[in-house]
Amino acid sequence: MLILGVESSCDETGVALYDSDAGLLAHTLHSQVAMHAEYGGVVPELASRDHVRRVVPLLRGALSAAGKSLADIDAVAYTRGPGLSGALLVGCAFAESLAFALGKPTLPVHHLEGHLLSPLLSADPPAFPFVALLVSGGHTQLMRVSAVGAYEILGETLDDAAGEAFDKSAKLLGLPYPGGALLSRLAESGDPARFSLPRPMLHSADLNFSFSGLKTAVLTLVREQEGPLDEQLRADIARAFQESIVEVLVKKSLKALQATGLQTLVVAGGVGANRQLREQLNAQARRKRFRVYYPELEFCTDNGAMIALAGCLRLQAGTPAKVAGSFSVQPRWPLLQQPVAETEDGAC
Ligand code: KG4
Ligand code: ZN
Repeated sequence: MLILGVESSCDETGVALYDSDAGLLAHTLHSQVAMHAEYGGVVPELASRDHVRRVVPLLRGALSAAGKSLADIDAVAYTRGPGLSGALLVGCAFAESLAFALGKPTLPVHHLEGHLLSPLLSADPPAFPFVALLVSGGHTQLMRVSAVGAYEILGETLDDAAGEAFDKSAKLLGLPYPGGALLSRLAESGDPARFSLPRPMLHSADLNFSFSGLKTAVLTLVREQEGPLDEQLRADIARAFQESIVEVLVKKSLKALQATGLQTLVVAGGVGANRQLREQLNAQARRKRFRVYYPELEFCTDNGAMIALAGCLRLQAGTPAKVAGSFSVQPRWPLLQQPVAETEDGAC
C-alpha cells in the first residue's frame, strides 16, 4: 500500500511517499525559516501562503523521486493538528481534495504522533513498548508508548516547551529565529564552568518540566553583563543554558525509565537533534544498560515522512481510513484522544 503524507502544521511543507512493504520511497521538504527569520518568528499568514505555493511542486518532486504516479497512491495522510489553523488548512484541503479526485481515502494524523513514531523510519527501529521524550518547539512530554495509539503521558512541561526555551534564549543572545540549533552550535565553544544556571524541577517528585524560569535566568545573566556581549561571553552563556536544560531532560528521562521499568527510550522532536543531549543520553544508556533511539536527523524536525508513516501504521493497527471530501483541522488537539478503533464520521 502506498501512502502519501502531507505536513503543513507550522513553517515546513513536507511531502512523502511511504510504502507499507518497502518503507519510505521519497520525501521532499521546504523550510520557511529564512522567510520568517526577518520577522523574528513565524508569521501565520505568510506560512499559509507559502504552503500553498510549495505543496504541488513538492508532491511532483516526491512522485518523480519515487518513480510513482498519482494513480499509484492508495491513501493520503495529512497533519490534522495541532498547529497553526491556516497552515493546517492548506495541507488538509490539499490532501482531502487530491484524495477525493483520486477516489482514495484519507488519514488525518496527529502531528505529535508523527514525531513519536518517526524513529520507526530508521533502519534499526525501536520495538514497543518504550518511553518517549518528545521535545519540540511546541511540546515537551515524557510518554509511555505501548503500541500505535496507546500513549500515556508521564510528565510534561508546565510552561515553555524545551524548543521554545532554546529559541527564546537564543533570541536573548542575539541569534536569529529559530535559534535553537544556532545556540547549540554556539554552546560548543562555551566554557561549561563559567556560569551556572538553575535546573528547574530537577528534584521534583513528578516527571514534569518547567523552562520559563530558565529563560528568565538567561535574561538576568545577559543583563548583568557590562558592555556588549562578545562572542566568548555569548558562547559561555549558551553553554550554561544548554548544560542546564540537557541535565533536566536527561535526568527526567532516566526517572521515567525507572518509573515504568522499561528499557528503551525514544527521543523525538526538533530538540532531539541536539548533540549534547544525544551524547549525555548515550553515555547514560551505556552506563545504565538501556537502549536509546533517535529519528534520523532529517526526521527530527517537521517532515512529511513521519506523517505518511503514522498514517500507514494507524491503518495497519485498525484505525479506519476516512472518505475524502469533508474535513476540519484541530489546531489544539491532545494526543491522548487517539484510540486506534476511533470511528470518525465518514469512516470507510
Ligand atoms: O519538532 P519541531 O520541528 O517543531 C515543532 O513541532 O515544534 O522542532 C523545532 C524546535 C525549534 O524550537 C528548534 O529551535 C529546535 O527544535 N531545535 C533544536 C535543535 N535543532 C532544532 N534545539 C536544540 N538543539 C538543536 N540542535
Ligand atoms: Zn513538529
